Amino acid sequence: PPRPPWRPGDGRVVRLAASRPSPTTRTSGGTSMTPRSDLRSAPGSPFAGAEGTPSRPPEPAAAERLAFWAREAGNLDWETPWSQVLDWTDAPFARWFTGGRLNVAHNCVDRHVEAGHGDQVAFHWEGEPGDTRTITYADLKREVCKTANALLSLGLSTGDRVAIQLPMIPEAVFAMLACARLGLPHSVVFGGFSPAALRSRIEDAGARLLITSDGQYRRGRAEPLKANTDEATRHTPSVEHVLVVRRTGTEVPWTEGRDLWWHDLVDAQPDEHRPESFDAEHPLFILYTSGTTGKPKGILHTSGGYLTQVAYTHRTAFDLAPDTDVYWCTADIGWITGHSYIVYGPLANRATSVMYEGTPNTPHQGRHFEIIERFGVSVYYTAPTLIRTFMKWGEHIPARYDLSSIRVLGSVGEPINPEAWRWYRTHLGAERAPIVDTWWQTETGAVMIAPVPGAAPAKPGSAQQPVPGISAKVVDDQGAEVGRGERGYLVLDQPWPSMLRGVWGDDERYRETYWARFAHLGYYFAGDGARYDEDGDIWLLGRVDDVMNVSGHRISTAEVESALVSYPAVAEAAVVGASDTTTGQAIVAFVILRGGVVRSAGDVTAALREHVAREIGPIAKPRQIMVVPELPKTRSGKIMRRLLRDVAEKREVGDVTTLADSSVMDLINAGLADSR
Ligand code: WT7
Repeated sequence: PPRPPWRPGDGRVVRLAASRPSPTTRTSGGTSMTPRSDLRSAPGSPFAGAEGTPSRPPEPAAAERLAFWAREAGNLDWETPWSQVLDWTDAPFARWFTGGRLNVAHNCVDRHVEAGHGDQVAFHWEGEPGDTRTITYADLKREVCKTANALLSLGLSTGDRVAIQLPMIPEAVFAMLACARLGLPHSVVFGGFSPAALRSRIEDAGARLLITSDGQYRRGRAEPLKANTDEATRHTPSVEHVLVVRRTGTEVPWTEGRDLWWHDLVDAQPDEHRPESFDAEHPLFILYTSGTTGKPKGILHTSGGYLTQVAYTHRTAFDLAPDTDVYWCTADIGWITGHSYIVYGPLANRATSVMYEGTPNTPHQGRHFEIIERFGVSVYYTAPTLIRTFMKWGEHIPARYDLSSIRVLGSVGEPINPEAWRWYRTHLGAERAPIVDTWWQTETGAVMIAPVPGAAPAKPGSAQQPVPGISAKVVDDQGAEVGRGERGYLVLDQPWPSMLRGVWGDDERYRETYWARFAHLGYYFAGDGARYDEDGDIWLLGRVDDVMNVSGHRISTAEVESALVSYPAVAEAAVVGASDTTTGQAIVAFVILRGGVVRSAGDVTAALREHVAREIGPIAKPRQIMVVPELPKTRSGKIMRRLLRDVAEKREVGDVTTLADSSVMDLINAGLADSR
């Protein structure tokens, strides 16, 4: 087997567990990996032999994959080496790098300072109003240590959960890393989420601490945040303290004894803290994402495997050169992209990043390009929805700026349409920067499918191939791989280091959602449709379940429907994602009003849109709400969203033969024509 890349004498020795029988040769001295023996294959696991006998050595491809991941994990600092790369005996609950111990924050911060890079910039931060902060790795270490000491002073201990709802300010990064340093799983909640959404996430995780700010800048205005979080924490007895960053100077309600100012508590702390190591499988964070039901799922990620894969993919997908690149991921830390590609991946790789607080058109539509020019951004990672927005604003805007520093462009969140791809390539990439279309999910933790930048011939709209170490397939209903030129479901047929370890507090939901669909094969069902082209490259086709993708954000139809029916005037609601030229999909709702009200005044629908924004957050606001007398349902009572999508996208309505009452669509169409 290939030797690990770490240098001799650097102390990172990886031993094999002595107790297991080894079917392969083993180097004496304990310094090399023999992944084949490192793998226990379980009956029914994808690694099991043909007969499923646990004693059979796994197929060579699997052994090589594990050796590959062991090499990547070797790029991190481990306090205690792992004894086994993957333990899949309890599939689908994976354990990677078992027995290994490390500290994630040490790997993201301290080790770079110790290696003499303390003066390197970790973040060029820019606030929406134009204020800036430059944070070196040495600064970052001090701030993270102070924050960790502050959390300790509040009596938090390993395993306690911390909820974070903050704007895109450096304290958000300090808070996440301080949690990681202390083994406190964080649950970051996007700043645009409503008090109700925050409350349910705090409750589900049982968070003891909430970290927030007085307010946040949004489109040039200072908006309250603490006032919102107070509404949430009124009902969450688990929260003992609320730590508040002063950002906007907005006046805040204050609960004496519970609430603490960041600048009082954190700034008074010593700036040194010695990190302890945690098990590779210690929970790092929970991040909630929408599923097909109304209740968001707490996706659980752990430490060693997650950090290994985010660091590896960040380095390779963007071809990162830590000494020269200036990297900018435009996501919000409230989403997985922010966790993996603003915080953990780039910092593990000692990247210099840009972090921007505000919206792309505040105070003008050239804001992003101005930032790229000012900091010399060389790697820019954003979402197709923003590219389409730039297209709408016009190419004369980027043309005003010097964007020649750009070397690699990334895309994430939804399939990138070829028009947006070409525009991106021309107007940001000067016709030469490779575009890396990265497919992954909150659940996968890190990039799974992406072209190798510059190496693969460009295919506008295709994520192309699984990255080395990852295996993905497009399969039919039965799980058989489809042929070239054919469509099917995207599955991940082998476990991967940054895979979710479960749904917080709900093992059954984890099995049911991801592993039940192809249980006989042990495949992870991603929920996306895909096809192979004639070269065998993968093209993503969007979700196959009732999950919408609005501006790259996942929103479930059920979640919006339950928000709609919680409004007193609404009797029933059905929601679909209709294609939208800017946001990819847009939310279109069909509602039946109570008391036989068929037609509504526009103000009912306006009030309903506001209601949904209040219940979930502005991102869930329907683009359009249609009041209808009936909803199309099958005989078993299931709403036929396909037909509603036809209406929403103004198409001829498709096959209605499975409807319980086939005249319903005529009724809906007549009613809508009437009210238009
Ligand atoms: C869903 C996951 C991964 C961070 C952002 C969203 C869609 C994501 C792509 C892409 C086609 C994509 C999928 C996936 N998606 N990236 N490059 N091409 N589709 O994370 O909220 O967990 O959503 O986003 O449908 O299942 P998420």
